[in-house]
Amino acid sequence: MRILVFGGTGYIGSHTCVELAARGHDLVVADNLCNSSPRVLERLQAITGAPVAFRNVDLRDRAATEGLLSGDGFDAVVHFAALKSVGESCERPLDYFDNNISGTLNLLQAMRSAGVRRLVFSSSATVYGDPDRVPVTEDAPLRVTNPYGRTKLVMEQLIGDLCTADPGFQAGILRYFNPAGAHASGLIGEDPAGIPNNLMPYICQVAVGRRAKLSVFGGDWPTVDGTGVRDYIHVLDLARAHADALDTLERTGAGFTVNLGTGTGVSVLQLVQAFERASGRPVPYEIVDRRAGDVAEVYADPAQAQALLGWRAQLDVDAMCRDAWRWQSMNPTGYADPD
Ligand SMILES: NC(=O)c1ccc[n+]([C@@H]2O[C@H](COP(=O)([O-])OP(=O)(O)OC[C@H]3O[C@@H](n4cnc5c(N)ncnc54)[C@H](O)[C@@H]3O)[C@@H](O)[C@H]2O)c1
Repeated sequence: MRILVFGGTGYIGSHTCVELAARGHDLVVADNLCNSSPRVLERLQAITGAPVAFRNVDLRDRAATEGLLSGDGFDAVVHFAALKSVGESCERPLDYFDNNISGTLNLLQAMRSAGVRRLVFSSSATVYGDPDRVPVTEDAPLRVTNPYGRTKLVMEQLIGDLCTADPGFQAGILRYFNPAGAHASGLIGEDPAGIPNNLMPYICQVAVGRRAKLSVFGGDWPTVDGTGVRDYIHVLDLARAHADALDTLERTGAGFTVNLGTGTGVSVLQLVQAFERASGRPVPYEIVDRRAGDVAEVYADPAQAQALLGWRAQLDVDAMCRDAWRWQSMNPTGYADPD
């Protein structure tokens, strides 16, 4: 297939490009580089052995997005392009609505104009908010707790309404749990700007000496050791799921919504210990107050992904820690030059 990967220089998008290229797809990456580095393109070329076509396009630019889609013969779009920080979304909700929701509307309109009717979309477990029970199934109530989550829910709904109105339009909605890890080459990985929002890159930056210690938010949750439990999923498993999702859309002609997680909950302290084992480095931490809006325990029921896509996670937390540490130690300052 000829595939447009929007947001393809980002963390999950770059790993997905490697998987799609390995399966013989023809890719064009589009991104406005607001949260990623152009160096990703050189690294992708080093891994895949071929240059990756790149277009610097902002999804909010309707004319540019239409121009990108028109006349290029795309069979499908994979849509990663979004702002993703919960905290920032609470401070700047309108920027999140504009970038994520208006951007998605532009993309859907451009796809319709160009006659491209197959979409794989990055959603998130954040649409479940504080779930009533775990493991979380796809039919659990959707109730978001912050503006970022609201944008994901609205984007899912926009896509769903379009699929209802145009049965020829097929979408695979992927609700990721907690992506972690990096490509085994150590050439691409997660490189957050500023203070990391996610646990694994924070741990990596402590281990490599960029930050003094990890703050663990709450030690009195009703969990195995009092710290929050999440479902960490290796980014390579996630990348494989996108390729499987495209294959499934092509094979069945029917859209779907699936959770992507391992089905196993891991606590903050369990992750810290696994990382210390994998890296041989200490990760000093301090237990501090709970954060507003956090929840005790969230992990996926991944049965629907297995049934519909034939996909299940294969890599465990030890592999995530090993690969995240390889990436961080080979690239202590991420994609940026050292100071
Ligand atoms: N990483 C996670 O923990 C996680 C969890 C659940 C869902 N997601 C979703 O997965 C997707 C990818 O996440 P990621 O971790 O790779 O994030 P990322 O920030 O590394 O990648 C997103 C990419 O989209 C680009 N982008 C953003 N707005 C754009 C715009 N208006 N025009 C063009 N490009 C734009 C950014 O420059 C970046 O390269 C996002 O939609 C995110 O909401 C991520």
